[in-house]
Amino acid sequence: MFKKIMKYILTMLFLGLVVIQFISRPEQLAEPIDAENDMMALLGVNGELRDLIQSTCYDCHSNQPDYPWYSSIAPISWWTNEHMEHGREELNFSNWGTYSKRRKDHKLDEIGEEVSAGKMPLPSYTWVHGKLSEAQKKMIQDWVDSERAKLAAEDN
Ligand code: HEC
Repeated sequence: MFKKIMKYILTMLFLGLVVIQFISRPEQLAEPIDAENDMMALLGVNGELRDLIQSTCYDCHSNQPDYPWYSSIAPISWWTNEHMEHGREELNFSNWGTYSKRRKDHKLDEIGEEVSAGKMPLPSYTWVHGKLSEAQKKMIQDWVDSERAKLAAEDN
């Protein structure tokens, strides 16, 4: 009796999982890098720092996210996609060139703060990929400081 009920429940769960795959297929975005507006291209960021930012921030803050395989599977996809879309609304490294000077300075400030405080990348990302090391955080903070100094020195 118990075995039968368990089998029934498991079958229903499985069917439920199959069915929700068809409910909503979140749209996946993968635009080519637009060198005119991309932050790394505009600021001439290269090497280790660029790799670090592109691998740890671009999934949620650019038009070139690298979707992990599990992000196509409902219900995980509903959750990962929500983060990816919301992150992009707040800060999009692919649209850097369209930001005003004031906005750039503010976003750079926030990047330094969020990274140094360990709030970014989001925990949902660090569970899978691991946290940033102190050296990596410092690399980002130093870069932010130097870019803010450059912005401040620009006249306009
Ligand atoms: C898993 C997705 C994800 C990853 C990876 C991620 N972010 Fe975010 N980020 C978000 C979301 C969602 C928000 C908006 C909600 C919040 O602040 O928690 C956000 C907000 C921010 C903000 C605040 C913007 C503002 O103006 O308030 C900054 C700055 C930021 N992220 C920087 C980064 C940096 C730098 C990295 C890489 C080191 C990174 N994020 C990686 C999802 C992500």
